[in-house]
Amino acid sequence: MMSEQDEIRRDDRYATSRKYASMRGIRAAARLALSETVWNYLHCGTGDEVTARANVSAFDDYLYEVPLFAGVAKPDTSTHFLGEELSFPALTAPFGGGETLFHPDGMLAVGRAAHAAGIRQMVPVAAGHALEEVRAASPAALVFQMTFCGRESHVIDMMHRAKDAGYRYICVTYSPIRQWRERMMEDRFSMPGAGAPSNFGPGKSDPAMLRELLDFTEPRWSWEQAARVIGAAPLPCLVKGITSRVDACAALKAGAHGLYVSNYGGRTIDREPAAITTLAGVRAEAGPDVPIVFDSGIRRGSDIATALALGADAVALGRTCALGLAADGEAGVRRVLELLKDEFWTTLGHLGCASVRDLTPEIFRAPR
Ligand SMILES: Cc1cc2nc3c(=O)[nH]c(=O)nc-3n(C[C@H](O)[C@H](O)[C@H](O)COP(=O)(O)O)c2cc1C
Repeated sequence: MMSEQDEIRRDDRYATSRKYASMRGIRAAARLALSETVWNYLHCGTGDEVTARANVSAFDDYLYEVPLFAGVAKPDTSTHFLGEELSFPALTAPFGGGETLFHPDGMLAVGRAAHAAGIRQMVPVAAGHALEEVRAASPAALVFQMTFCGRESHVIDMMHRAKDAGYRYICVTYSPIRQWRERMMEDRFSMPGAGAPSNFGPGKSDPAMLRELLDFTEPRWSWEQAARVIGAAPLPCLVKGITSRVDACAALKAGAHGLYVSNYGGRTIDREPAAITTLAGVRAEAGPDVPIVFDSGIRRGSDIATALALGADAVALGRTCALGLAADGEAGVRRVLELLKDEFWTTLGHLGCASVRDLTPEIFRAPR
């Protein structure tokens, strides 16, 4: 079997070109750019990383039925999501708490690349740049991600700050317990600057909120509390981490504007099912009109087609964008988005889909 090092050497031919030929080239360049510790941080899941792997491999179970002579020469990849026109159905996922280790420009570079690609960005509260700075760098910064934790007033204050900065949606997440990430534990890797992320401190948000964010002994939140905060929010909220019909129903009852189907790329808890296997059920529960964004396992353009056919309106790109960022900053993320969009375009064309609206479960080969 080829070792990872051999594989990287084999892929050096891609990495020598600024215009990476494929995602493999981006990955090889990112591997060369990052220390092993940061590489592990980027890729790690939790526990045995069963969920992290399954998120990706589960896409192999969705095979297409490709009709002869059905191809479309110039499919339209554009779509509307959250009131915005996207050049293809994708947003960059909120990845923070260390993204400036991939490239010092972090979310600034991601936002600029998203803007150049005609898509939108979701910006994490844990980013290495303040939310205002990211928004000023790019009009693509549409959604601000923050966590249900600590005092409700702190959460609502932060939402107002995001609104004042120009964000149009809030993505709320919930992660009350520390994650069992063995690669990081073995590397003795702790996030540099974890005590002072850019969004807290003088003139920013109350540092008490940061303490609450990092305090895993705080009392847990409930759906009643979430509903109160979503009700008081100055912006429409998407609830992230939905992987069941029960939670989809609860989030909508709590006032969520949209659902974000995700298991955080297997970085929160291991042995959850592959996220893509939960998507159709969530769509069935939510009905046709609720905006749904999906992530966890999107690695190529055909994965975007699969996720849309199973009920997503758009996908979010986490590790793929992080790899682009590590490979070559803004240019690297731009190339990732270009490759994904082009492969998505090709997939649509071969499947005979003139537009994203034609992506339905009928594209899949019926079990024989
Ligand atoms: C390095 C890294 C940092 C992340 N940080 C956050 C975060 O701050 N907030 C959040 O909601 N999700 C975070 N995520 C999860 C991503 O938003 C997304 O759900 C996940 O990457 C999807 O899985 P995939 O990258 O395997 O497709 C992070 C992911 C990575 C890889």
